[in-house]
Amino acid sequence: MTHANVLIARPQTEELRDILKVHQLAFVAAHVGTSPGTTEHALTALVNAPRAIKNKTEYWRHAIGRNIGIHVARLAVNNMVIGVGEGIAIATDEGMVTKIASLYIQPEFWRQRIGSRLVGAATADFTYPTQLVEVAAATNAVAFWDGLGFKQTERKLPPISIPQYDISIPLIEMRRNVAPLA
Ligand SMILES: CC(C)(COP(=O)(O)OP(=O)(O)OC[C@H]1O[C@@H](n2cnc3c(N)ncnc32)[C@H](O)[C@@H]1OP(=O)(O)O)[C@@H](O)C(=O)NCCC(=O)NCCS
Repeated sequence: MTHANVLIARPQTEELRDILKVHQLAFVAAHVGTSPGTTEHALTALVNAPRAIKNKTEYWRHAIGRNIGIHVARLAVNNMVIGVGEGIAIATDEGMVTKIASLYIQPEFWRQRIGSRLVGAATADFTYPTQLVEVAAATNAVAFWDGLGFKQTERKLPPISIPQYDISIPLIEMRRNVAPLA
């Protein structure tokens, strides 16, 4: 397969809808068949529910407005948005760390190093060495993060529970560059 020529850049306000679309498509593709109830039909209904759209629109509006940590991947040929990644700075018991809060690549463009490039861009905005991410345990994303040097921690996370669809998505925490104990 030919790899697309892709540019990583700051998002524009008017790209909000495209970012939301990429988020929806990547979420559905990543979760199909990973836990009971995760059919394509149920997941598509879930991401298109009016409340989900409202919440995610607000989420991405704020992320674009903050304009730190967030980057999009655009096709050089037509500027189409095909990926989005967002890092944020958070306080943890071990001090400040960079959390990759979101990372979504449109499924047709998976395995072209676009996710890796977005992680690099998102984390470069912050100076904290330790980076963490909360990952859906049954998705291929675990292999992706593992390849980037993130390792599962012992922290227990509550699953993402979606009672209307009888879906429960187990989560794990993964960290990279863990600071040595003082
Ligand atoms: C996870 C995701 C962001 C990866 O993006 P990507 O652009 O395809 O990743 P990359 O091409 O940079 O992958 C780098 C390496 O990670 C590993 N990797 C990535 N996807 C993998 C998969 N599906 N299975 C196994 N290993 C994988 C491989 O080692 C890959 O290198 P290779 O292709 O040379 O073998 C993308 O699949 C996605 O959007 N998934 C849905 C949303 C999601 O789960 N996001 C993570 C939220 S925590």
